[in-house]
Amino acid sequence: MNIAVFASGSGSNFDVIARQAQEGILDVKVKLLVCDKEHAPVQQKAQALGVPVFRFVPSNYEHKEDFEKDILHVLHEADVELLVLAGYMRLIGPTLLQAYEGKILNIHPSLLPAFPGKDAIEQALQANVKVTGVTIHLVDEGMDTGPIIEQEALRIEEGEDASAVQKKIQQMEHRLYPQVIQQIVKGEI
Ligand code: GAR
Repeated sequence: MNIAVFASGSGSNFDVIARQAQEGILDVKVKLLVCDKEHAPVQQKAQALGVPVFRFVPSNYEHKEDFEKDILHVLHEADVELLVLAGYMRLIGPTLLQAYEGKILNIHPSLLPAFPGKDAIEQALQANVKVTGVTIHLVDEGMDTGPIIEQEALRIEEGEDASAVQKKIQQMEHRLYPQVIQQIVKGEI
């Protein structure tokens, strides 16, 4: 299955997915990285793995619809069937949602619906919860909403700070996201 990963940041999830795809562990081909941030480190990771990058500058467009039409064009050219959001910090608009209905995944570092949006780990620590985790869900028009596919919980130990929790969350994400993608490819989800 041909997939595109959408990312705006460091790209650790992109890296794991693209490597596993190249090693044949995952039955997908990462055809494209879509990136909306000029200096996002994920772009170097894509270059290192030979994955083409479509980077766009949102402020160069008047409307979301305009850049999503450009994205759609490259997705179609690459025969992309599934969109995998991995730290793409932007709401998906109707253009992409209609073209890829039920075929857009997102990962989020909390047990949704708790702590959507940015800085989910910091939000959880601020709220003094004892348990947080990771959610993988289908994307709809909302911010980190849409039907939940998979969740895993993580206990926050006494005295742990954001970076300690983030490390554990990242390990969980790197295990869970490829697993769910593979289950989708196999038709098990
Ligand atoms: C991940 O932790 C992902 O769950 C989060 O961004 C990070 C990207 O990390 N996504 C969200 O917060 C979406 N609301 P990465 O660039 O190292 O893959």
